[in-house]
Formats: sequence, structure tokens, C-alpha cells
Amino acid sequence: MTTDRIAIVTGSGSGIGRGIASHLIELGYKVAIQDLNPERVAETISLIDPQSKQTIGVVGDVSIPTDVAHCVNEVIAQWGRIDLLVNNAGYCQIKPIMDISHEEITRMFNVHVMGTFLFIQNCVPFMKQQKFGRIVNIVSALGAGASEFTSHYQAAKAAQHSIGKSAAISFAKYGITSNSVSPSTVESNLFYENDQNFLKHMGHGAKEELARRASLKSTEAVTTMDIARAVAFLAESTSNQINGQVLGI
Ligand SMILES: NC(=O)c1ccc[n+]([C@@H]2O[C@H](COP(=O)([O-])OP(=O)(O)OC[C@H]3O[C@@H](n4cnc5c(N)ncnc54)[C@H](O)[C@@H]3O)[C@@H](O)[C@H]2O)c1
Repeated sequence: MTTDRIAIVTGSGSGIGRGIASHLIELGYKVAIQDLNPERVAETISLIDPQSKQTIGVVGDVSIPTDVAHCVNEVIAQWGRIDLLVNNAGYCQIKPIMDISHEEITRMFNVHVMGTFLFIQNCVPFMKQQKFGRIVNIVSALGAGASEFTSHYQAAKAAQHSIGKSAAISFAKYGITSNSVSPSTVESNLFYENDQNFLKHMGHGAKEELARRASLKSTEAVTTMDIARAVAFLAESTSNQINGQVLGI
């Protein structure tokens, strides 16, 4: 069992991030529950650590420099180190290329790309001092391909993966690894928040889209816990020779 490890999981107010935070708590980590949505932060803490012994909640937007600095400073003030950064915050938007606005493209890149850059830039100085750090980016199977309705999401996830690989090369000499976990389809708000967009552009809702995808797989659906276990594996000190890799789940 891992103990006395400190983690930041961005976007851990729901879905995959909440699953990762919950698993890390079970392993003995202390975890900063970072999310844009204050209700989700409070709900996650009440579910996974009701007495707030191993968590702090930090509300903020991963794409805003002062919010990111605030989160990292809070963690250092509270626990004094950062062993694991999980760049998980994100969202998807179902829209054809011709319908996506300038603002929507900018937002997509700000959250997935800028957010990843900012958290790495703020955490690495502490990881360097410790001569130890683990960065895990939650990318996407879609980031390795192309589709009609998620071009800006896919481009942003591909860029996020690229940042992770550059971080791997840049920081290996300090005992810091950077890897990515790439989920295929995990049932979460990310789908339900696009219910109307699925209906408009694909002729069926989020539930039907999840069922359609499930029917394409020969195995059981991927769960948040499958992703969480992969993150925990990459975060182990004994995973030091795994760097710049992507683990598809
Ligand atoms: N669900 C899937 O099938 C799937 C597949 C591949 C990759 N992913 C990736 O997994 C990650 C988590 O997605 P999920 O499926 O758990 O979705 P989710 O909507 O359940 O959770 C994402 C969380 O991120 C938060 N968030 C969004 N923008 C933020 C910002 N600017 N700053 C801070 N927090 C923000 C949201 O409030 C939300 O709580 C995302 O990066 C997503 O791209 C999901």
C-alpha cells in the first residue's frame, strides 16, 4: 500500500477524476479535489472522504494561471509536497467542423492544452526539489484519430498527449515521469452534457450513443476504476522506467 503520497487530480468533481481520487484515497494518498464546479467538489469529498482527512477541495479553472497557482500553493501549504499530478479536467463537444465557433475552439484548447501546460509548469518546480514526481495526463482514444463531430476535442487531446511526451523528455533527469492514460468510452457527464448535440447531429441521445459504443466492444464497458488503477500503477515509484508512454484502456 502506498502512503504519505500527495496528489492533485484536476476535474475530480465527477466521472473519471472522481474515480481516480477515490482509488488514490484507498491507497493512502492525500488528494486535492480540483474542479471548476464547487458543488461537484463538495459532493466528491462527501462521497470519498466524508471527514476530509485525506482531501482538500480547490475550486478553479485549469486554464486560468492564477487559479492553477492557487491550487498548487494550497497543496504545498497543506501538505508540503506534490508526488502526483493528474491532468484530467476536460469536456467534449459534439459539433461538426463548420458549426464550431472561434470561442468554442479556443475554450477546448484552453482547458485541455493550456490547463495541462499550466499545471505542469506549477508542479514541476516542487517535484524537482523532491527529485521525484509523477505526471499522468488523461488523454483520449479519440486523440489518436479523426471523426466528423469532435474535431476540436480530438485535436486538443492529441496536443495534450504531445505535451505529456515533451514533459517526459524534459524532466526524466529529475526523477519525474510523465505518461498518459487513454480511455476509450467511460460513461460520465461528458456524454450526458452532450445529449442535445448527439440528438441534433447524430439523431440519437447520449444514452443511445453509449449503448451503440458498448455494442461495438467484445468486452465489458470500461469503468472509472479501470482508469484509476492504470493511473495508480504509473504513479508508483517502481514505475520509474515507464516514461512518455500512453496506456490505452
Ligand atoms: N468519458 C469518456 O469516455 C472519456 C474518454 C476519453 C477521455 N476522457 C477524458 O477524461 C477526462 C474526464 O472526463 P469525464 O468523462 O470524467 O467527464 P466529466 O464531465 O464527468 O468530468 C470532467 C470534470 O472536469 C471538470 N472541468 C471541466 N472543465 C474544467 C476546467 N476548465 N477546470 C477545472 N475543471 C474542469 C468538470 O466540471 C467535471 O467535473 C476528460 O479529460 C476527458 O477528455 C473521457
